[in-house]
Amino acid sequence: MLNTKEKIIDESRQGEALEGRRLPKSNGRKVFIESYGCQMNFSDSEIVASILQKDGYGITKLLHEADIVFVNTCSIREKAELTVRKRLTEYNKQKRKNPKMIIGVLGCMAERLKSKFLEEEKIVDLVVGPDAYRDLPNLVEEVDGGRKAVNVILSKEETYGDIAPVRLGGNGVTAFVSITRGCDNMCTFCVVPFTRGRERSRDPNSILQEVRELSLAGYKEVTLLGQNVDSYLWYGGGLKKEFDNLSEEEKKTSTNFAQLMGKVAQVDRKVRIRFSTSHPKDMGDELLHVMARHENICDYIHLPFQSGNSRVLEMMNRGYTREWYMNRIDAIKRILPTCSISADIIAGFCSETEEEHQETLSMMEYVRYNFAYMFKYSERPNTMAQRKYEDNIPGKTKQRRLAEIIELQRGHSLEILKKDIGKTYEVLIEGVSKKSDNELYGRNTHNSVVVFPRENYNVGEYVMVTVESCTSATLKGKAVK
Ligand code: 5AD
Ligand code: SF4
Repeated sequence: MLNTKEKIIDESRQGEALEGRRLPKSNGRKVFIESYGCQMNFSDSEIVASILQKDGYGITKLLHEADIVFVNTCSIREKAELTVRKRLTEYNKQKRKNPKMIIGVLGCMAERLKSKFLEEEKIVDLVVGPDAYRDLPNLVEEVDGGRKAVNVILSKEETYGDIAPVRLGGNGVTAFVSITRGCDNMCTFCVVPFTRGRERSRDPNSILQEVRELSLAGYKEVTLLGQNVDSYLWYGGGLKKEFDNLSEEEKKTSTNFAQLMGKVAQVDRKVRIRFSTSHPKDMGDELLHVMARHENICDYIHLPFQSGNSRVLEMMNRGYTREWYMNRIDAIKRILPTCSISADIIAGFCSETEEEHQETLSMMEYVRYNFAYMFKYSERPNTMAQRKYEDNIPGKTKQRRLAEIIELQRGHSLEILKKDIGKTYEVLIEGVSKKSDNELYGRNTHNSVVVFPRENYNVGEYVMVTVESCTSATLKGKAVK
């Protein structure tokens, strides 16, 4: 077992191994990066670490030895922002002990609040939006010179495609690879189009290269990330265009998401491929057929529906109806009969009636999700919904509707997992169980967590596990030789 310090050095070497380069001479300063929110934020922090490492900074997991603290923030719901503000208060205490410490805010909150952050939160020295990370070394220099630094310029081209991320998550088994940045969908409830800017796709060659390097470094699972992976379209760079708007030449050389998945799956058959997030308006049958053809693409789709009612979906500007969504579910069940499906659901969006809420519940009955991420609607400043609609569902009603959704989902999850008892699944071992050192955990192709006795198995191995029991969130079993 490595101790924490050795582990940090070891992890920073992964970046070196991936790029086949030596690290530049250390400048003696250490950076602590903390990430909140979606997988994309965690992936971005790995890009930030890479940019800083190239400039001679060390990356540490120990707050007390950090010269610089970066918080990569989330704005998706009010609660996420409150959590970050609390953390900043903690850092403030740390800074009193070590006045030279630099505190920077990265990500969506930085982009949303911009320089307001410097005025409101006196302890922040640096505010950097998601497209300005290459500028971080210069911005730190500015702070060294006694100034506060802000760069929140959004880009139409930046994909960080040439940057080999330093893997911070640290199990050496599973990794995220971002394939698009930004979002053009403009769901009325969502801040992401404002904080992450316009949608751009990354060069498929740089994606394939990154996956190859991960495979060489021993990784066994790659998750391709984008706000809407289905609208991935590479035709030579720049802002997203619809396929129909490409020139004949661009059409011939373009790559869509289904084609990208086919290529990524062939890099290494021992590397599992996952992806997130799919959008019901764009998810076509071509992708489902590619998934059916490649065994190492996991049998799992995250397909948020947000609401089961067409009027609410229209107000949300989701670009599909209840019937369209059901049609996509039917296509999944037809082409990938065993595919597990998860969703995002919002309870209590503006003007949602009791009957409309019932349609969300009936959609859950129709699909029977393996699991779901369930939220109360949280009004976000400057979104279309905030400007156009009244947030008029009382807090208590939102809470009750959410509780009904959670309760129904718990039942469905349990029912679906119970059907797995007696079945044997290939599980990729991700780590030692939090509850017991004698147990390991991993996930099966359906993204269900599977816990089983450790015996002589190791993290990073594939093992066949027969399921013996379950809760609504976890399968328990035993490895079979
Ligand atoms: N309120 C509640 N949930 C939201 N989401 C996005 N914006 C909001 C909001 N304002 C949820 C959606 C999305 C997921 C990432 O977060 O369900 O799919
Ligand atoms: Fe937000 Fe909609 Fe884009 Fe998802 S698809 S990031 S919910 S705007």
